[in-house]
Amino acid sequence: MKETFTLWWDEALPGIRYIDQTLLPAEYAIAGCTNVDRLIAAIQRLEIRGAPALGVAGGYGVALAAQTCSGTSPEEFSRDVRHEAGRIRESRPTAVNLSWGVDRVLARFLAAADAASARAAALAEAHAIATEDTRCCHAIGDYGATLLPDRCTLLTHCNAGALACSSWGTALGVVRSAVEAGKTVKVIACETRPLLQGARLTAWELARDGIDVTVITDSTAAHIMRTGKIDAVIVGADRITGDAVFNKIGTYMHAVCARHHHIPFYVAAPLSTFDATRTEQEVTIEERGRDELAEIGSRTLIPDGVPVKNYAFDATPMELVSAIITEQGIIRPPFDISALLSRTASYNEP
Ligand code: MRU
Repeated sequence: MKETFTLWWDEALPGIRYIDQTLLPAEYAIAGCTNVDRLIAAIQRLEIRGAPALGVAGGYGVALAAQTCSGTSPEEFSRDVRHEAGRIRESRPTAVNLSWGVDRVLARFLAAADAASARAAALAEAHAIATEDTRCCHAIGDYGATLLPDRCTLLTHCNAGALACSSWGTALGVVRSAVEAGKTVKVIACETRPLLQGARLTAWELARDGIDVTVITDSTAAHIMRTGKIDAVIVGADRITGDAVFNKIGTYMHAVCARHHHIPFYVAAPLSTFDATRTEQEVTIEERGRDELAEIGSRTLIPDGVPVKNYAFDATPMELVSAIITEQGIIRPPFDISALLSRTASYNEP
């Protein structure tokens, strides 16, 4: 299967190039961003999205800040870059990979002796994050593929594919690796209201790779699990604390349904998505604008004046998770996140 990349550094800009995910599937367009304001807008508009991709974007964002800030003194230069890094870190609150990528590159930037080497160090570290992410996705894919029967139908939610990462994907990386290993895998993609990452993005990237994919409404998931058509549910994650898996709103509902119907519920995520420092209660769940629910194109769907609740993510308690597939292997209950991260210190200490 051909490896395709979602975002990368373009020295000619200089800046970040990326597939604009708001336009898919109607239009495949590569966008560019040369300043931090534009990067923050791209992240908040979900032109760049998905936890591992946000980690890469956060890293390149600090490299971009290092290139665009000048400062009249070394102190002013590093203060300005720290300020810009803070703005990128805050641009979306739930996916921990974003702050992880920002902080990892910022640490390398701040440790350098002068402006030129700080800029070079920041860019080198951001490249390292992008390269590692691809490697992690392939390892997750290979481990995850061992969990799947030779013929199976998987249900997934949102998009945890190449588009959500540097390339290959986490949950969809498992699908890709299983198909490469000769397994017959069918994917049921939940459309994922309101922004339709499942219908637009998961369906687009799997169909492009010739993988069997069918889209359902989110509310069809329980019915299709009950009628025995699903062998496993597999999703990505935005943050994994000791007690819960944060992922796209609707994931918890699938986990409850899967448990009721004795279907395994798998989470595929790199260690950069783990957060041993917080509990579920301490994580901010992003709430997005009313327009995402109330409007489709020029049509109004909800009467004026009626409020909405538009949570972007939910938390699935660990007791509903059958296994977590990481680049270091498959972990099973009882999940000991702190022990896992202390064995791999480079991931939890940027
Ligand atoms: O709001 P989004 O599209 O950024 O949400 C993305 C998800 O919820 C993904 O499932 C998650 O980031 C895992 S991506 C490998």
